[in-house]
Amino acid sequence: MIDVAIMGHGVVGSGVAEILHNHSKRIAEKAKENINVKYILDLRDFEGLEYSDKFTKDFSVILNDPDVKIVVEVMGGCTFAYDYVKACLLAGKSVCTSNKELVAAKGSELLDIALEKNVNFLFEASVGGGIPVLRPMAQCLTANEITEVTGILNGTTNFILTKMISENMSFDDALKLAQELGYAEKDPTADVEGHDACRKICILASLGFGKHVYPNQVKTEGITNISLVDVEYADAFDSVIKLIGRTRKLDNGKITANVYPALVSRKNMLAGVNDVFNAIMVRGDEVGDVMFYGRGAGKFPTASAVVGDVIDCAKHLSARKYLHWIDGEKDYVADSIDDITRLYVLVKTDNLAEAIKEIETTFSGASYIVSKDNSEVAILTETDIERNLREQINSLSCSEVVKTLHAID
Ligand code: HSE
Repeated sequence: MIDVAIMGHGVVGSGVAEILHNHSKRIAEKAKENINVKYILDLRDFEGLEYSDKFTKDFSVILNDPDVKIVVEVMGGCTFAYDYVKACLLAGKSVCTSNKELVAAKGSELLDIALEKNVNFLFEASVGGGIPVLRPMAQCLTANEITEVTGILNGTTNFILTKMISENMSFDDALKLAQELGYAEKDPTADVEGHDACRKICILASLGFGKHVYPNQVKTEGITNISLVDVEYADAFDSVIKLIGRTRKLDNGKITANVYPALVSRKNMLAGVNDVFNAIMVRGDEVGDVMFYGRGAGKFPTASAVVGDVIDCAKHLSARKYLHWIDGEKDYVADSIDDITRLYVLVKTDNLAEAIKEIETTFSGASYIVSKDNSEVAILTETDIERNLREQINSLSCSEVVKTLHAID
């Protein structure tokens, strides 16, 4: 029998406890051992549960119990979670977590401790909720050099954008609905400003390219600036607007990593990923494009990935697994302005004829749409180095630039 402790009994933590409790037989068959939840750490009281006797408010009980071999961290945040996870790893316990903030901020340090102590630090649930993506990248795709990872990594913003696209709902109304349905937090900043997607692209880039990428190295833009007007122009360009996390390997060994709302061509599979679903496209030099799709958030999808890690840990208690990357350098993440992209450019003009003449000479090959009242032009450029495109945009004199967004074919 293997004793496990769960730190945190919130949405995901209660899901983990319920799965381990309700499906103990099939889990034991898969782990080849009985998995016993010995403690659940939470400051709140939970009366009347079948496992109410497991609760403790004292972390040291878990830390100092040598029988606890696997600890699940589902508290969230980076303060107590960091101290407790580090202490558990140093004490020789394996840790499974869904905490993307922790992994994005402290992943390489914690992975080093796990390596030194010959224990596992697993975090499949930290990216894409219930979607298996980290393990396939770390195991099944290892014959490849990963060259790019692009994904829809946040369910809340994808839900909001889906409502704006398919029901013409305003951003504010869609956000309110997301909050009513329990997708978005009362304070939705981390989702709508892109911080959650940023943490996830940090983890994907770190794993995919082998060096830690920190959130402050990722240029991050959320969806608060997206209006129904943009949604309409995107539609006219046969595209939809999605919040995209993207990381790419450059020829000079550096990488780019970004989070931004982008026009995604309807020909791209990511364009069909709607509601709270997530999808992650991984590009390998041998395999080509591989797509991972599913529920990126929610109690049981996320808990399913955590319990998968617990079973994996239980099966490999005396053998470290595969996850590792080294710390990155300060200048490891290059400015994506020197990478290729397409841009959507919305301009205002009071001289349409001159503006069009200028747009046609400045952006050769670009498509454009004129608003009904002739006051705006939406442009979709050809693919080029972003720096060149920005120079072209800055040279416009017959119109005023209202907004630019990235575009993905
Ligand atoms: N708030 C996140 C989302 C939860 O909406 O995707 C899962 O990380």
